[in-house]
Amino acid sequence: MEKKRITIAIDGHSSCGKSTMAKALAKRIGYAYIDTGAMYRAVTLYCLEHDMIKGDEVNKPRLRRHMSKIEITFKVNDEGKSETWLNGKNVEQEIRGMEVSSKVSLIAAIGFVRRAMVAQQQAMGRNKGIVMDGRDIGTVVFPDAELKVFVTASAQVRAERRYKELQSKGDTTTTFDEVLANVVERDRIDSSRKESPLRQADDALLLDNSHLSLDEQNEWLYNEYLSRIK
Ligand code: DC
Repeated sequence: MEKKRITIAIDGHSSCGKSTMAKALAKRIGYAYIDTGAMYRAVTLYCLEHDMIKGDEVNKPRLRRHMSKIEITFKVNDEGKSETWLNGKNVEQEIRGMEVSSKVSLIAAIGFVRRAMVAQQQAMGRNKGIVMDGRDIGTVVFPDAELKVFVTASAQVRAERRYKELQSKGDTTTTFDEVLANVVERDRIDSSRKESPLRQADDALLLDNSHLSLDEQNEWLYNEYLSRIK
């Protein structure tokens, strides 16, 4: 018998391991994985490359005119990993750097950017069988998702994880305190913005993974998935 295909929405704070667990689940159950944060990051990179951000000011009229020229896609590389492409260029590495990280909340707070991204995300999930991670997936993008999880961990733990990740990628200039400040500041902007602020959907399961191993959280998520397809 065909297995029931569902929509899985994973939301939560930045750097809490959402994407790691979302990717692992998608691979295990043969679903597509969509990292929506990467889409906001790609728009941010586009703005930086086109000189549309000065300090904390975004040139919104110009960005609005450019929106139709910004094409974001995901391609699976030779190792089976999904990578982000912006207008025909692989930007997977660039969008994870500190420059983009420090500006992305400004871009993700803009209404017309969010509406464009949400429309694309809804199109990608039309046929279900998808694991999508972000901030507003269970509240805005797929309010009817069969499984919704809201993931969090302490700011200290999240900064430690992101710091290790940057170091493993060869970043020797960013300090731990800068990473921690960035995590705290992004939480503040993401939760207090007017457009789709980060919040737990009423019917989402809360997962605080500060003290969970990767295997533990993966098993937990897999079991929740199994209980939804019965
Ligand atoms: O998950 P991430 O750290 O790559 O997300 C980057 C930024 O984009 C973060 O500031 C929150 C924002 N974001 C959002 O507003 N909505 C989403 N669905 C995904 C990310």
